[in-house]
Amino acid sequence: MRYGQAKLPLFIIAIVFFIVAFIGLFYTDDYSSLSSTSILKLNKPCSSQETITNDLTPQKKITSDLKSDDSAKGSSVVPEDIDNIDVDDEELLINKCDLAKGRWVFNNLSKPLYSDRTCQYLDKQISCVKNGRMDSGYRHWEWQPDNCIFPRFDPQVVLDKLKGKRLMFVGDSLQRNQWQSFVCLVESVIPADQKSMRRGHAHSVFKAKEYNSTIEFYWAPFLIESNSDLDIIADPRKRILKVDSVSKHAQYWIGVDILVFNTYIWWMNGIKIKSLWGSFANGEDGFEELEEQVAYRIGLKTWANWIDSTVDPNKTRVFFTTMSPTHIGSLDRHEKKGFRCYNETRPFLEYWGSDLNRRVMDIVASVVQRMKIPVQFINITQMSEHRIDGHASVYAKTQGKVVTDEQKADPKHNSDCIHWCLPGVPDTWNRLFYTYL
Ligand SMILES: *[C@@H]1O[C@H](CO)[C@@H](O)[C@H](O)[C@H]1NC(C)=O
Ligand SMILES: *[C@@H]1O[C@H](CO)[C@@H](O)[C@H](O)[C@H]1NC(C)=O
Ligand SMILES: *[C@@H]1O[C@H](CO)[C@@H](O)[C@H](O)[C@H]1NC(C)=O
Ligand SMILES: *[C@@H]1O[C@H](CO)[C@@H](O)[C@H](O)[C@H]1NC(C)=O
Ligand SMILES: *[C@@H]1O[C@H](CO)[C@@H](O)[C@H](O)[C@H]1NC(C)=O
Repeated sequence: MRYGQAKLPLFIIAIVFFIVAFIGLFYTDDYSSLSSTSILKLNKPCSSQETITNDLTPQKKITSDLKSDDSAKGSSVVPEDIDNIDVDDEELLINKCDLAKGRWVFNNLSKPLYSDRTCQYLDKQISCVKNGRMDSGYRHWEWQPDNCIFPRFDPQVVLDKLKGKRLMFVGDSLQRNQWQSFVCLVESVIPADQKSMRRGHAHSVFKAKEYNSTIEFYWAPFLIESNSDLDIIADPRKRILKVDSVSKHAQYWIGVDILVFNTYIWWMNGIKIKSLWGSFANGEDGFEELEEQVAYRIGLKTWANWIDSTVDPNKTRVFFTTMSPTHIGSLDRHEKKGFRCYNETRPFLEYWGSDLNRRVMDIVASVVQRMKIPVQFINITQMSEHRIDGHASVYAKTQGKVVTDEQKADPKHNSDCIHWCLPGVPDTWNRLFYTYL
């Protein structure tokens, strides 16, 4: 265990603050466009940052440092250049390799498949370039699994696989981050009159008409029901979770061919969770206060039971995206250099650990292991922990407003170190997802 007890309260305080500050606000979608004048205005104060990205030498150096560093740490597999691998060994390596283990390599020739200007479906909250982010390095880091071939996301292949099918992402705003990344990754190859988007309060549907397929998002931040699903209750102490009930949400999952779930951060407020069995109508006093991990396990089991009893494994495939790390806690070694993820333009290259509750990973693994229906993990946690540079930070938009210059002067309280810029880190999550599709 790398985490001392003494550090926990700070972590908890940070999480409580950020949940209140961001998650609730982020739910309120705002579709209004930024006027071009405000973009111009925003760009000015940041232009000095341009120089950071052009100076690539230090990043390259760190990259090569990582290799030796990793081996020194005694990680199970010594990184080896993909180019050095015998073609004959490729099959073998694909089978035994773990795509979630690897390193980030800077490649300034790599280019995201979309930008926040070309993809009209991105929420303003995560459209970092539109919101004034000038450095571009965060868009050019590529995940390179140890000893694995990591296929590139091919939108055409994806669309062929999704022909006549429904794909649905279910979960919280980070899952919506992944959904928007997925939509933007595929939409560019679809002609304008062959696609449509319908945004709803809880359920949003992107349609690729000629393929008769949909890529959907369903909002259920706890997966199970709570009194804070659609009408967000900002104060986590007032939230009550129906830990034994999922059907209100799950009715929307029936008939979907590919389901991708997540749930994590909403549970982690550093306070006991008011957990209710049975109906809300029995009175809200009937709840029991449970440790967050205990409540999480019960809630996840409720979800697992629904999957096991309802999903036809011959028709439906089930995925689970593991927890997305935040970079808001004081555990970050970088803290002394700056404020959380603010101003970060490079990943941590040797780093395992952020402000995550790692026991939740074990809970998810143990619940899923006991399930009848196979669930494939999209294990994004460790790879994303390196990416302190990938968060929306002060280039997020909350309550329909970009962070003002005044607020930027106080980055400690105005950096969104939970959500990710798009294009960005979630594109790699989907590249991982793509290898399983
Ligand atoms: C990529 O980096 C190399 C060396 O750091 C530089 O010479 C080249 O111009 C860069 N290319 C792009 C497209 O930025
Ligand atoms: C389109 O896909 C749905 C399932 O997603 C299916 O029920 C329907 O029959 C399909 N329509 C056509 C024209 O293939
Ligand atoms: C799934 O397909 C297999 C083989 O076709 C069949 O034996 C099995 O009963 C099916 N399972 C369900 C739940 O329909
Ligand atoms: C953020 O980065 C810019 C450019 O490097 C620097 O001028 C500024 O002082 C930094 N701000 C903080 C709070 O570290
Ligand atoms: C995800 O990957 C990390 C690092 O490889 C590992 O420790 C963890 O157990 C994995 N989680 C699951 C659910 O497989």
